[in-house]
Amino acid sequence: MAFNFDQIIARENTHSVKFDGRQQYFGTTDVSPLWVADMDFAVPECVVQALQARIAHPVFGYSLYPESLYQSIIDWFQRRHQWEIKREWIVLAPGVVPSLFAAVQAFAQEGEGVIVQPPVYFPFFSAVTTNNRQLVNNPLREVKGRYEMDVDHLESCAKNGAKLLLLCTPHNPVGRVWTEPELQQVLQIARRYDLTILSDDIHCDLLFSGVKHTMLGRLAQPGDKIITAIAPNKSFNIPGLGLSALVIPDEQQCTAMKRAFEALHVGNYNPLSITAFEAAYRGGDAWLDALMAYLETTRDFAADFMAREIPRIRMIKPEATYLLWLDCRRLGLSDAALRDFFVKTCKVGMNPGTVFGEGGSGFMRMNIGTRKDVIVQALEAIRSACERMPI
Ligand SMILES: Cc1ncc(COP(=O)(O)O)c(C=O)c1O
Repeated sequence: MAFNFDQIIARENTHSVKFDGRQQYFGTTDVSPLWVADMDFAVPECVVQALQARIAHPVFGYSLYPESLYQSIIDWFQRRHQWEIKREWIVLAPGVVPSLFAAVQAFAQEGEGVIVQPPVYFPFFSAVTTNNRQLVNNPLREVKGRYEMDVDHLESCAKNGAKLLLLCTPHNPVGRVWTEPELQQVLQIARRYDLTILSDDIHCDLLFSGVKHTMLGRLAQPGDKIITAIAPNKSFNIPGLGLSALVIPDEQQCTAMKRAFEALHVGNYNPLSITAFEAAYRGGDAWLDALMAYLETTRDFAADFMAREIPRIRMIKPEATYLLWLDCRRLGLSDAALRDFFVKTCKVGMNPGTVFGEGGSGFMRMNIGTRKDVIVQALEAIRSACERMPI
């Protein structure tokens, strides 16, 4: 089956944050939007068809989660990740970010420590700080151009009493897919110090060739306190529909998470979200495989182009996600000047690295989830702006 990821789809005036939020975020609409993490591609046909069939029924009343939805999750993770999930472990949730917030409330008391590993997706910080828990940083280390977790420092954070680790796996923005031995090390630390782990695996399906993602939850033994957050949202480009799932084998923890959501009376029983979620997990395999092949040609093109034509920007080649982490420190600009340079001179709208916390200064995050020609154009604009810069 052929999929056309080169199709031009105008997203302006669709209430899109990425397109229609440019004025507010960048102060101009005149930038190529390579920021917010959604993609510019049409969703799989099976999702469109399922939504059309649902919309043909003109009543959108309160809905419930059908058993077939749970089964689609069980089947997907069995098929794609060799992970056997039990029905009673699954808790549906409005989105992965709300789950981060709920987990902080459920598994750490006010003032207690929650570990995050910057540079990391920014709601990891606000989930901790807005809930008045103590932010404990365990910064990633860059070793020979590849990011690693600092497991020794992680151990000392856990030893000092931190209660919860927010793990990003694969890791946004550095694109690492943690290996099984790395995850085993984290698991051993968690066991030694009774640490709970919220494993955010939202990017688990966006894998480049030759890379194997291990679900931390699959490695868990009875007694381990692992909560896994998953969603088809990133994989199938339906994040605006905002439905996700948690997999929580521990009964007490499952109850604690349900209580945290009930306390806020939040859920997403939106009939369209339910329909799209299930359709994607049931029929999206071929589309997803084709998407990753397409993104891989873009990623590899960007890597070659930057190495050859823009040597002052170093791209950290991602093993997963459609996000590129760009080391721009050799441009010699302050963070404010760097942002201005990309917006005003290059006309490329990216996320500044500083929002991802420690280790983000001098970096930018580029979203390549768009047509390849859009990326080619953006990179050419960056190249010519760099050439005009004084060395
Ligand atoms: C690691 C990570 N978790 C969660 C999200 C967003 O999740 P949701 O839209 O389901 O709240 C993102 C989006 O970029 C992400 O990168």
